[in-house]
Amino acid sequence: MNYIDAREAPLRNNGLIKLHGAEAFAGMRAAGRLAAETLDMIGEHVAPGITTAELDRLCNEFIVARGGVSAPLNYRGYPKTSCISLNHVVCHGIPGDRVLREGDILNIDVTPLLDGWHGDSSRMYVAGKPSVKAKRLIEVTYECLMRGVAAAKPGATTGDIGHAIQEYAESNRCSVVRDFCGHGLGQVFHDAPNIMHYGNPGEGLVLKPGMIFTIEPMINLGKWQVKILGDGWTAVTRDKSLSAQFEHSIGITDTGNEIFTTSPAGLHHPFID
Ligand code: MF3
Ligand code: CO
Ligand code: CO
Repeated sequence: MNYIDAREAPLRNNGLIKLHGAEAFAGMRAAGRLAAETLDMIGEHVAPGITTAELDRLCNEFIVARGGVSAPLNYRGYPKTSCISLNHVVCHGIPGDRVLREGDILNIDVTPLLDGWHGDSSRMYVAGKPSVKAKRLIEVTYECLMRGVAAAKPGATTGDIGHAIQEYAESNRCSVVRDFCGHGLGQVFHDAPNIMHYGNPGEGLVLKPGMIFTIEPMINLGKWQVKILGDGWTAVTRDKSLSAQFEHSIGITDTGNEIFTTSPAGLHHPFID
């Protein structure tokens, strides 16, 4: 696998791993912060009675008011700003008329494009109070993300990240979705490399300072298999079990990593209070 100085790489995914410099980290810091602020803002609107389309509209309004553009909107024909994935929806749920009900759990995933940089992040929310099993799944999934992030440092491999996530998920009787992965990003939304959320220590690609990518594990209470609904986007668990996901955008530094999408309000995890 080949690495390339990002300044010499074309603005597209050509399969090479871009190694970014200080300017990219500054751009990602600003875009990531806008993603995190959007997810902070939307939390107080999540409640029984609101539609997912209204949550999406609020996200778009917030991003545009701060000089950003929503990257998913019209991306490969995707029709909305955010992905909102309820209950057994794994990812890429399309906001619409669905009204939130007491106990629904949902992932909201936003990617503002700000001054040319993509900040990609998602969190879990609950309408009202979660069931005991939903709360447990959300807690396990958050811990999976943060263990994956902790494994991301120079000299480690993509397999180390995947292993950290898979080990924790499976030791908690949950499963890791195989069909979707984290991804390089920056000025390109979905770039090399792919970051699997399962794997073996020491395998895969060696991480180097300057790499920028997401970690975004999708964890199911039941089996890992998914299927795509007729709209061509919505991925659901085949066994109808609940699914959860959290996502951060990070950059590899000389000593570890920098998380670009940390919540300024400390709200990334839903059950801090
Ligand atoms: N934000 C999603 C991700 O984490 C991608 C959404 S692209 C869309 O990679 F087209 F599905 F919206
Ligand atoms: Co992503
Ligand atoms: Co995302």
